[in-house]
Amino acid sequence: KRIEIIGAPTAFGQRKLGVNFGPDALRYAGLIERIENTGHEVIDKGNVESPVIDMKKYKSEQNGLRNLDEVISFSNNLYEAVNETKNNGNFPLILGGDHSLSIGSIAGISKHYENLGVIWYDAHGDLNTIESSPSGNIHGMPLRALLGDGNENLTNIGGYKNKVKPENVVLIGMRDLDDGEKKYIKEQGILTYTMADIDRLGMSKVISETIDYLKAKTDGIHLSLDVDALDPVETPGTGTTVPGGATYRESHLAMEMLNESNLIVSADLVEVNPLIDEYNKTAHQAIGLMGSFFGEKLL
Ligand code: ARG
Ligand code: MN
Ligand code: MN
Ligand code: MN
Repeated sequence: KRIEIIGAPTAFGQRKLGVNFGPDALRYAGLIERIENTGHEVIDKGNVESPVIDMKKYKSEQNGLRNLDEVISFSNNLYEAVNETKNNGNFPLILGGDHSLSIGSIAGISKHYENLGVIWYDAHGDLNTIESSPSGNIHGMPLRALLGDGNENLTNIGGYKNKVKPENVVLIGMRDLDDGEKKYIKEQGILTYTMADIDRLGMSKVISETIDYLKAKTDGIHLSLDVDALDPVETPGTGTTVPGGATYRESHLAMEMLNESNLIVSADLVEVNPLIDEYNKTAHQAIGLMGSFFGEKLL
C-alpha cells in the first residue's frame, strides 16, 4: 500500500484551540516512521490550507452553526486533497483537526465508491443537526451531514449529496448521545455498539460482527477514529472527553482486526489536541494504534 498523509488542521468545528495542531503533534510523535516500519510507503502531503483564525470571532458567542463559512471553506480544500489521493490510487490517512473535517474527507472518498461503509469509532454519534445540537459545534454534526441532513453547503461538499447510507454505518464506543441523535439512530436502524455492548460482547465480537455486516454490502470501508472513543486515562488530550471509554488494549485489538479484514480503504484520525494534553501522550497513544492498523506485528 502507498499511504498518503493529509494534515487537516481545523479547529472551527468546536471551541478549543490547539486541535488544529493535531497533525503536527502526530508527526512529531513519530507517526510516519511507525507506519513506514510496517513496510508501507508513506507520502506526507503536508497540511491542507485553512482559513485564518480570527481570534475575536472564534472566542465570541455565535448564533446557529459556529464558524460555518470557515468549515465550508476548509471542507472544500480537504475534499480536493482527498479526492486527488484517491485518483492516484493511494490510501488517504487524514490527521485532525476536529471531527468536522470528516465532512470534507468522506466527500472525497465516497465519490470513488458505490456503497462506502463507515465505521465511526467515537464516544459520540456526531449525528446532530442545528436543531438537536446542544452546542452549535459542527464537530457534533459531520456524520449527519454525510447522511444528507443539515446545512445545504455542508451536505453538498464535492457537488453531491448523501455520501453514506445509514445501513452502511456502524457506530462503536458510544456513551454520550444527545436526544435527537438517539431518535435518529432508532429511526434509521443504524448498527450501534455502545460501551455497554463492548463490555458484554467483547471487542473481538463487536469488530467481527461489524466486518461481517459491512462486508456483504459495501465496496470499501472508511474508518473514522475519534481519539475520545478511548478512555480519557489513555487519551486525555482531546476536547470532549467522556469517562468509561474503550481501553488501549481493546482499541489495539480493533485496529488489528480491521487490518486483517483487508477491507479498509481510508481513515481519519481526529480530535488530537496537544495544547490540553499531558506531554503529547494522546498523539503517542494514537500512533500505537496506527501501528496495529497498518499491520505491525511483534513476531
Ligand atoms: N454531542 C455533542 C455536541 O453536539 C458533542 C460532540 C462531540 N463531537 C466530537 N467529534 N468530539 O456538541
Ligand atoms: Mn459513493
Ligand atoms: Mn467524540
Ligand atoms: Mn467525533
